[in-house]
Amino acid sequence: MISDRSANIPPFYVMEILEKAHEMEAAGAHIVHLEVGEPDFETPTAVKEAACRALEEGMTHYTHSLGIPLLRQAIARHYNERYGVDVSPDNVIVTAGTSLAMVLVFSALLNPGDEVILSNPSYACYPNLIEFVDGVPRCVDVFEEDGFNYRPAEIAGKLGEKVKGIMINSPSNPTGIVMTDDEMRGLVDVVGRRAYVISDEIYHGLVYRGREHSILEYTDHAFVLNGFSKLYAMTGWRLGYIISPPDFVRPIQKIQQNLLICANSFVQWAGVAALEETAGETAAMVRTYDERRRFLLGKLREMGFGVAVEPTGAFYILANARKFTDDSYAFCLDVLEEAHVAVAPGTDFGSGGQGYIRFSYANSLDNITEGVARLQDYLNREAS
Ligand SMILES: Cc1ncc(COP(=O)(O)O)c(C=O)c1O
Repeated sequence: MISDRSANIPPFYVMEILEKAHEMEAAGAHIVHLEVGEPDFETPTAVKEAACRALEEGMTHYTHSLGIPLLRQAIARHYNERYGVDVSPDNVIVTAGTSLAMVLVFSALLNPGDEVILSNPSYACYPNLIEFVDGVPRCVDVFEEDGFNYRPAEIAGKLGEKVKGIMINSPSNPTGIVMTDDEMRGLVDVVGRRAYVISDEIYHGLVYRGREHSILEYTDHAFVLNGFSKLYAMTGWRLGYIISPPDFVRPIQKIQQNLLICANSFVQWAGVAALEETAGETAAMVRTYDERRRFLLGKLREMGFGVAVEPTGAFYILANARKFTDDSYAFCLDVLEEAHVAVAPGTDFGSGGQGYIRFSYANSLDNITEGVARLQDYLNREAS
């Protein structure tokens, strides 16, 4: 018998769109991909070279379960330099991607029935992984006109005994919104030390106006989840980390020892190079993403999609498509079949995403231009 745990974990509908797109491509269709949540850039050369060097130097065995000291120090230094916060390498736990970092933190924090507050919509894996460790996601509706941010007064009323954590993700997937200093402060003031803020900072560095803030600028009653996949275009390398309150380091370490032993050794060496040797290349990527962002945002608004608050981070725009449909998934399937453009249904990110479509600009300006033209033709045809 298949366990309830595995039977109940929901699929990711954007993967179904992607798989259908691949089937259509195999049959000869040309699809423009605006659904994909990963950088289209190559991993920076310095990172690949560092990995090759590490392999040649025999860095192919288990490492310390918390990660190699050099990487833990580089991560602590990165947070010190970028956010002016004092992070000790002792509180850094290196793991195989931000995804696993979530499993480790939820496992260390939650007893069965304990709750984590999540925004609706938010990244699809959060509720699934909370449920996977027998926790309870407490979804709070957030609204387009607030940039999909929590309303602190509403959070205050939700901080019951069972609530152990509240998730934030700025810049956000799926919305691309970056929380301001005031918004971060407002939330932390309300939460206080009643629950841990779990801050998924995976899109840090991919910000096109102003700057992003780490939760550690506001409170130490928090976990940072971060990784190398997005800013450094390293999705396939599987490298991430946690910055944890000191008393959780040992519990997380024990779970990691059992689950994974350690992150890949030579990949950890590559992570040091990513932090220390790629500033020029990542800055160029950021400029390119911003050019695409401004183009796509302008075109979506021209076409009649609603974007109330300008998304200034990550590589996503969550656009209101209610003018065209009440059913995001059906719309995405139709656009794929009729216009050969793949986009992600907002419903992948919770019921609050109904009526919204997530557009990714992790694709070339030429492809985005082609995708937008096809979408415009499709909408014209539908309207006539
Ligand atoms: C918000 C968010 N967190 C975490 C992840 C997973 O990151 P990683 O590749 O480090 O596991 C993603 C990937 O799309 C994401 O969008």
